[in-house]
Amino acid sequence: FEYGALAGKHVVITAGPTREPLDPVRYISNHSSGKMGYALAEAAADAGASVRLISGPVTLQVPPRVDCIQVETAEQMLAASLDDIDRCDLFIAAAAVADYRPVAVEEHKIKKGSEEIMELRLTKNPDIVATVAGLGAQRPYTVGFAAETRDVIGYARSKLIRKGLDLIVANDVSNPEIGFNSDDNAVTLVSADDEVSLPQASKRQLARRLIEQIAQHYKQSTK
Ligand code: PMT
Repeated sequence: FEYGALAGKHVVITAGPTREPLDPVRYISNHSSGKMGYALAEAAADAGASVRLISGPVTLQVPPRVDCIQVETAEQMLAASLDDIDRCDLFIAAAAVADYRPVAVEEHKIKKGSEEIMELRLTKNPDIVATVAGLGAQRPYTVGFAAETRDVIGYARSKLIRKGLDLIVANDVSNPEIGFNSDDNAVTLVSADDEVSLPQASKRQLARRLIEQIAQHYKQSTK
């Protein structure tokens, strides 16, 4: 691990789930704990970067020397991600953003009715990492994650292309040892012309290896 690898660079990392409210007491969310994103923030700070973590609701402690912005919804996460984006050199999206949110947020608690089936209407959320990757000439080097349960590398590669990313971290979340809320992870870093497997390790250890690899790719791209 190279301590100066990201010296002078500004890194923005999204982490955790988003929470999409239905009414004042209910929401749609997922099992992301934030562990992967927080570990990446710690590793990037150790590599010398100034780090901003944009975090959905989690129960983790913010690592030292990391500036953390707390958000709840995907729309708030997008706004926080775009704030000051001109200063960002490297954007890493580890958050598990809800793809959809309720069409309407009820002002008052939804009452139980007599019907057996209740239908929810959902609308698509903005895609944060694709928006950042699409910012044009001044865009940061952009790294996404792909949480997949089958054909992990194939789907990751199509997300890399569809979202216009520089790199994507393929994460097989069908294995409960290495996915949402686990302490360990194992991933494959996928670029346009290469794949590097990083074997199972704690998310903290794996984050250091990932930051090392990402910093190398980033340096290559700025040569
Ligand atoms: O938080 P942990 O418990 O430690 O778990 C870690 C993790 C499994 C959540 C993490 O390793 C991971 O895989 N994060 C991505 C989860 C995800 O939602 O992946 P996706 O394949 O649905 O999304 C692809 C990429 O687009 C991701 O970089 C995601 O942040 C981004 N995205 C998705 C939807 C959206 N509206 N905006 C986005 O930016």
